[in-house]
Amino acid sequence: MECQICRGTGWVIEEVEGQRVAKRCRCQFKRLSKLYLESSGVPVRYRNCRFKNFSPETPFQLKALRVCVDFFSKFPFVNRGILLFGPPGTGKTHLSVATLRNVIEHKGLKGVFCDFRGLLIDLKSSYEGKASSSEILDSVRKAPLLVLDDVGAERNTEWAKDILAEIINYRYTRSLPTIITTNLRFDDISGETFSDKFDERTESRIYDMCQIVKVEGHDRRKAGV
Ligand SMILES: Nc1ncnc2c1ncn2[C@@H]1O[C@H](COP(=O)(O)OP(=O)(O)OP(=O)(O)O)[C@@H](O)[C@H]1O
Ligand SMILES: [Mg+2]
Ligand SMILES: [Zn+2]
Repeated sequence: MECQICRGTGWVIEEVEGQRVAKRCRCQFKRLSKLYLESSGVPVRYRNCRFKNFSPETPFQLKALRVCVDFFSKFPFVNRGILLFGPPGTGKTHLSVATLRNVIEHKGLKGVFCDFRGLLIDLKSSYEGKASSSEILDSVRKAPLLVLDDVGAERNTEWAKDILAEIINYRYTRSLPTIITTNLRFDDISGETFSDKFDERTESRIYDMCQIVKVEGHDRRKAGV
């Protein structure tokens, strides 16, 4: 339906300091955030992930939810991103997507969802000439908000380490906020830790740029089994 305020033109005339000035209409904000959401790369399966349909079942999940809501409400005035680590099916990707979509919808800012393994595959195929690898990497490195999903699920290669180091270092030096999810442990109780798989320099930067939050609970994907 045509907007009643701008009659579909997307512009309104307002007086600013005694001058008539053309300004973008409010409806354009909605249009842009819809566009941003569509181009954010959030996978179809996660399109409906919101804070309100996340029901925490453990104190870990409750804490993670609170950290994400707090991050969203302060965004872009945040000085740290978030790293969610824990076993499969505990809601890490759900919470990251909910945060990202709220930032896009309510703050009108661009955000990018990037599945780390998918990124590596895209970069590989870019070497075969499909799209420029620096373009692909730039869309991730430079995003005002980046969700880097499932880091550590890829094959353990020096190249994957380098790509992660590059993204993290780029964002670290520019203080760009990042939300990371991983199954790798950030404590050293048991299981493969982050520092086993990636280098210490990357881990050190992540500690500085993210609030580290453990997410534990039962595997939601197995619910009902
Ligand atoms: N507390 C919760 N409340 C509602 N839905 C949840 C909750 N936790 C997980 N889910 C749902 O369960 C499914 C799996 O969650 P999700 O993909 O976020 O897990 P994950 O922690 O990212 O797992 P993995 O480590 O395997 O990537 C999703 O469909 C998600 O929406
Ligand atoms: Mg996940
Ligand atoms: Zn309008």
